[in-house]
Amino acid sequence: MSFDALAPWYRTLEWIAFGDELQRCRVACLGEIAAPRRALIIGEGNGRFLCELLRFHPEVEVDCIDASHRMLQLARKRIADELGNRLERVHFLHDDIMSWSPPKHHYDLVVTHFVLDCFPEAVVAGITKKLALAAMADANWLLADFCVPRNGMARFCARSRLAMMYLFFRLMTRIEARELVDPTPLMRAEGFVLARQHPFRKGTLKSEMWRRNR
Ligand SMILES: C[S@@+](CC[C@H](N)C(=O)[O-])C[C@H]1O[C@@H](n2cnc3c(N)ncnc32)[C@H](O)[C@@H]1O
Repeated sequence: MSFDALAPWYRTLEWIAFGDELQRCRVACLGEIAAPRRALIIGEGNGRFLCELLRFHPEVEVDCIDASHRMLQLARKRIADELGNRLERVHFLHDDIMSWSPPKHHYDLVVTHFVLDCFPEAVVAGITKKLALAAMADANWLLADFCVPRNGMARFCARSRLAMMYLFFRLMTRIEARELVDPTPLMRAEGFVLARQHPFRKGTLKSEMWRRNR
């Protein structure tokens, strides 16, 4: 699996398919969290969310993990161009979340935007456990992703669009997933509670804030 070849085109493809809705989805909960001190972003991609996180919360230190070297280069360049003085607050880590070992109980913010959808259910379960262990007892977890409405035409349209997207990403990046996995029960099992949810595009996209209070 690699997003390297797709990385230079990712922003354009996103704009053609979704306009600015994915970005609205990524940042929807940013103003609703308490200022984080240490954030972990998994699969950040080209840095658009990271940039807004640093604008909203200038004091945060960020560990940004991505398996794509090219995506990390784009993210670093974006921060250098737009917020050069914040670059030192970000550690860009070229690594695979499946093999990377995070420090325990370290982060008060975890972010997984449009990344858990790259993995099959057993892998999502493993990643969720790993990230929950890396999170502090009172951490927030921001999650933006696709979702499938319960019924009606919207469900049919969402499933058809997702089927095409999975075909495209399987061909272009060799992701393992064949269908969308809902991480909700996995996050609940780790003690996280859904605190906010913002639907977009008739409920086919969601931005969620999860909170743990131990
Ligand atoms: C679909 S893109 C999403 C990018 C961005 N988060 C967004 O909101 O658009 C998935 C990102 O996760 C990264 N990724 C995929 N599998 C990964 C893994 N096993 N470990 C770390 N990063 C991974 C890819 O390189 C890519 O940047």
